[in-house]
Amino acid sequence: MVKITLVEPGGKQIIVDAKEGGSLMQAAVAAGVTGIVAECGGSMMCATCHVYVNEDDLEKLPKKSEGEDEMLDSTASIRKENSRLSCQIKIGPELEGLKVYLPESQY
Ligand code: FES
Repeated sequence: MVKITLVEPGGKQIIVDAKEGGSLMQAAVAAGVTGIVAECGGSMMCATCHVYVNEDDLEKLPKKSEGEDEMLDSTASIRKENSRLSCQIKIGPELEGLKVYLPESQY
């Protein structure tokens, strides 16, 4: 299991144990994190799994695909340089200690 920290807009930190090989979205939903909606179930069609990746952790992640990049234009909260879709973040040991921030809204 890989420990990932999700920070709510109010500053509350939620630490989830994410399964290797799964996605960050799946780990967050399994842990009952309400700030991740994931309406499409991970098929990159909804952008309701939007997160802001901690700047210092960005280098741990592979580059986003063209499809993810396009879908990020549809996020409810403002898109930033560090915006990612959590369904496209695959959990591996290199992500231990990753921190992401939840946006104000997913709708
Ligand atoms: S869950 Fe729908 S785009 Fe990530």
